[in-house]
Formats: sequence, structure tokens, C-alpha cells
Amino acid sequence: MTELADVPALLLSRIRDVADYPEPGVMFKDITPLLADPAAFTALTDALAGIAAGTGATKVVGLEARGFILGAPVAVRAGLGFIPVRKAGKLPGATLRQAYDLEYGSAEIEVHAEDLAAGDRVLIVDDVLATGGTAEAAIQLIQRAGAEVCGLAVLMELGFLGGRARLERALGGAPLDALLQV
Ligand code: PRP
Ligand code: MG
Repeated sequence: MTELADVPALLLSRIRDVADYPEPGVMFKDITPLLADPAAFTALTDALAGIAAGTGATKVVGLEARGFILGAPVAVRAGLGFIPVRKAGKLPGATLRQAYDLEYGSAEIEVHAEDLAAGDRVLIVDDVLATGGTAEAAIQLIQRAGAEVCGLAVLMELGFLGGRARLERALGGAPLDALLQV
């Protein structure tokens, strides 16, 4: 088992920097080496599940696509239900839909309306907090469903993009936990 103090170093060592991807000037943070390492993936899952327990979450929401990979095992480990927030057009039932801005253009995400209700306390899980646009739309979606966001937990925060400040109002005091600052 990985000692608690070693977890950030272990996680960081398994994230690969890819220069100029997906476009020139961008340093992509590739988490596939972390996912392929069972000790690192387990340590990540345990750390996020601990955050879920600490926030008193009743549900875990994962954001498509990389938030699914991280969030689903967290839900299982924490003994909570997992709710997928999907890119628009993928869910068959009645949905709530939320638009958000991208660097170029916009996108939409959806959740099944029946998956969240008043009384639910939701921890949102994703891999990266960059500008905060994706997370902000997810918070709005969850709140529109009548549920409460009790926290946002990410593997890494790209602090220079200002996502934390952007989300302050939407989170309304709920914690934003980032295991790594990169
Ligand atoms: C990436 C990343 C986060 C989001 C962060 O998702 O996984 O979800 O961007 O950016 P933001 O804070 O500026 O919104 P993306 O939709 O690019 O790809 P994915 O489907 O592989 O998760
Ligand atoms: Mg994503």
C-alpha cells in the first residue's frame, strides 16, 4: 500500500507531459500512464473516495469522458451511486442540458433528470480543472436538478488558467480539492 504522504509524488510521476498537443503551444497532461499503473490508480481512487466521505456526498457525478474513468471507481469505493454527466445527445431518457463556452465555440452537457433530486449531496469528479468552464456547467446542471453540490474533486488543477476563482461563486463555499497543482 502507498504511504499517504507519497501519493502526490506517485501521481505526479505517472502523468506524462505531451508538448504541442492537441495544438501548438499547449502542454497536454496525459493520465494514461497513471491509469495503467494499479498502485497509482488505486492511490488516486482512495484519495478521491476519502474526499467523498469527508464531504458527506450521497452521489458522485463524473464528467465525460475522463471524469468517468476517475469517478466510477471512486463511487464504488465510497459506496455511493455514480451519475454520468454526458456530452449532449448520448442519454436516452429525459435530460437537463447546459451549454458552456469553449475556447472556440460552445458545447453542451446533459444529465438524466431522474438521477438527481433535492436532498442529494453531489461530489463532482474530473481529471483536470483548467478554465473551469466544464465544471461550472456541471454545477449549474446539478443545481437545476435540485441537488446540492458538496464538492468538486480533481486530480490536477492548472492554476494559471484561473478556474478556481471562476468557480468560487457557483460552489457557494463547497470545497474544491485538487490533489496536484501543475
Ligand atoms: C478536459 C478535461 C476536463 C476539462 C477541463 O475535458 O478532462 O473535463 O477539459 O477544462 P476546463 O476547466 O477548461 O473546462 P475534454 O472535454 O477536453 O475531454 P475528455 O472528454 O477527454 O474529458
Ligand atoms: Mg474532460
